[in-house]
Amino acid sequence: MKVTERFSFILLVAGLGFFAFSIAVMAFLPWLNLKDIPMRSVEDLAKNVPIEFYDLSSRYPEQFKRYFGDVNSASYAKVLRLGRDTYVAEACWHCHSQYVRPISNEDIRFGDVSIPDEYQNELQLPPLFGTRRVGPDLTREGGKRPNDWHVAHFYNPREVVPTSVMPRYPWFFDSSEKPNERGLAIIAYVQWLGKSREGLTAPEKMIYPGCSACSIFGEKYKEVHIHEKEKK
Ligand code: HEC
Repeated sequence: MKVTERFSFILLVAGLGFFAFSIAVMAFLPWLNLKDIPMRSVEDLAKNVPIEFYDLSSRYPEQFKRYFGDVNSASYAKVLRLGRDTYVAEACWHCHSQYVRPISNEDIRFGDVSIPDEYQNELQLPPLFGTRRVGPDLTREGGKRPNDWHVAHFYNPREVVPTSVMPRYPWFFDSSEKPNERGLAIIAYVQWLGKSREGLTAPEKMIYPGCSACSIFGEKYKEVHIHEKEKK
């Protein structure tokens, strides 16, 4: 029997050697990368309330008031927590990753490549990297599309993307077909994705013709989307 076929050799290399190697690569190296980056709380992340959150409150004032009260950092933090919990509970991570890799031109498809800082916050506990991509990566989803696109999309993805295989989420809506507590929270959460990091290339915004929200927000609303008539 050759040395490499002996049980003790296999145990040493495959059992202990590779076990130690995997601990080094999957635990020790990431720890080295993250140990000097402070962990951010949800309250810290929610300090700046983005315009999409104001927009959500003005589109569904009754529901918003009932579930979350007024628009401020405290209600935003509460909504983000619920949104993250809903994302985990509904297994969105089964089809969507939250990690733009530095390979295969992923930055062209999804936006700026991810960095460790983005993952040192409470909303990444548990980590939501995901391992499958049935749908697109969502790391840079925040601000890419207007809230009402997400409302229509969660209600029935095929109404906005006819070839979509994403399931419908009717339980995100109340009997009047307006988003309920979890519906508002998941939309606020996807609109937050990417906002834990500053200085990112702005996402390519969706062209949104026939805008009604401008009457509420006026000029300010232009930050959320581009109008058809302004398209170059
Ligand atoms: C069965 C797989 C699957 C599941 C589960 C799923 N999605 Fe999707 N999702 C997709 C696919 C495929 C697309 C691309 C087509 C489309 O836009 O519908 C997509 C698109 C999206 C988009 C639009 C991305 C963009 O800007 O183009 C968002 C946002 C999204 N999903 C969020 C979610 C959330 C939140 C959940 C959980 C509540 C979820 N998805 C669950 C497959 C899935």
